[in-house]
Amino acid sequence: PWLLVVAAMHAASWIFEIGVGILFALAAHTAITRLRTRMFRNLLQQDMGFYEAHVSGELSSRLINDSGMLQSFAQFTSQELLQAVVRFIGSLFAMFLTHPTLALLATLVSPLNWLIVRRAGAISGHYGVVQQETLAKANGAAVEVLGAMRTVQANTAELREARRFMRQLNHFLRVVVVTVHTQTLVIFAQHGLSKLRDVAVLALGMHQVVAGELSLGSFVAFNTYLSLYEQGFSSLANIWLNLSETLISIGRFLQLLERQPSIAFGTGQRPAECRGKLEVRRVSFAYPSARDNLVLRNVSFVADQCVVAVVGASGAGKTTLGRLLERFYDPQEGALLLDGVDFRDLDLRWLRSRIGLVEQEPALFDLSISENIAYGAPEGTTTEQIEAAARAAFAHDFIMELDHGYAARPGERGVRISGGQKQR
Ligand SMILES: Nc1ncnc2c1ncn2[C@@H]1O[C@H](COP(=O)(O)OP(=O)(O)OP(=O)(O)O)[C@@H](O)[C@H]1O
Ligand SMILES: [Mg+2]
Repeated sequence: PWLLVVAAMHAASWIFEIGVGILFALAAHTAITRLRTRMFRNLLQQDMGFYEAHVSGELSSRLINDSGMLQSFAQFTSQELLQAVVRFIGSLFAMFLTHPTLALLATLVSPLNWLIVRRAGAISGHYGVVQQETLAKANGAAVEVLGAMRTVQANTAELREARRFMRQLNHFLRVVVVTVHTQTLVIFAQHGLSKLRDVAVLALGMHQVVAGELSLGSFVAFNTYLSLYEQGFSSLANIWLNLSETLISIGRFLQLLERQPSIAFGTGQRPAECRGKLEVRRVSFAYPSARDNLVLRNVSFVADQCVVAVVGASGAGKTTLGRLLERFYDPQEGALLLDGVDFRDLDLRWLRSRIGLVEQEPALFDLSISENIAYGAPEGTTTEQIEAAARAAFAHDFIMELDHGYAARPGERGVRISGGQKQR
């Protein structure tokens, strides 16, 4: 009957373990998908100053790699932690109940062991950050190069770029090697101490068994508890090392997740009508990334129901003025006003949906031509409206000549249509 009970307990623990594993996996994946989506949404709402300070490849690495760390932490580490704590505390109790003296001897080295783990944790914590940073940099470089293939090939820079990428990865590799070395060292030191402890326990235990002060059965049981204790301790140590490595990355991910843009959506007026009187009043502006370089100095003009062309030398600040009109930035001094209302008092979405912007280097998405035309107003735009807009921009004729007309996809970055066609 005891055999049956033991068998049943094993079966139950087997099934529970699988069940817990599935639950942890599902919970972690669901949570991380939500976090990634939230992160992406938050990234999309940041101000332009933020994007100037971060390379897009670096951000995508944060989005995918750093959150991957978070996931493995949620899925595996938390599960291991639960097991390790139960094992550690349970076996500690069992040891002290079976034989307090031996238990004291067995746990004597643990504080020292823990100190070693703490030191190693600090080291891997530092290198974990460097690892993530170098990986993000390598990713940033790759994305940049792959996005500018024409320039790279036209300048026969393929090998140079490959070498640049290799250098980035090598840097990453060196950091990994250092991390692995410290961790190996820790494991050796820790195992050495544990072995020493095992010998001491064996000597004292056997001595007592021979002297008849301790039954062989209790000693065997004690040793079983001790090995459980050791397992629990090393899992805890491992978790600590992993944790120190990931904690800072996780922290940075969360920081990015909670970052508030300096130009925020969702506040301000939404006037019912828009006449279109634009006033630029004594505006001075410097980019956030170059505070000392005043690009616009005391610029003023009024545009009311008329066409205004801004002329100036290259680098004079024409594009910058356009960016202020979209309120990608706020001026340091002065104000922009629409129908007499300061931009800063207007709802950002409302303001931007009143303005059409054609960039110096326009971007088309890999959607159909009609979806691209209606990108600024995706809901409730009729086919007729889209066609009318295309005709007004003298784009209708060449669109009709494309294979699928308005349903044609210009391809990523619009490679299948000309630069001039794109601007239209
Ligand atoms: N993102 C930026 N961060 C910092 N400085 C910038 C940034 N963009 C432009 N500048 C600086 O602002 C100045 C004005 O640039 P801007 O792009 O507005 O010139 P532009 O008049 O449009 O020139 P072009 O006729 O060549 O298009 C330049 O001196 C440039 O160095
Ligand atoms: Mg320009």
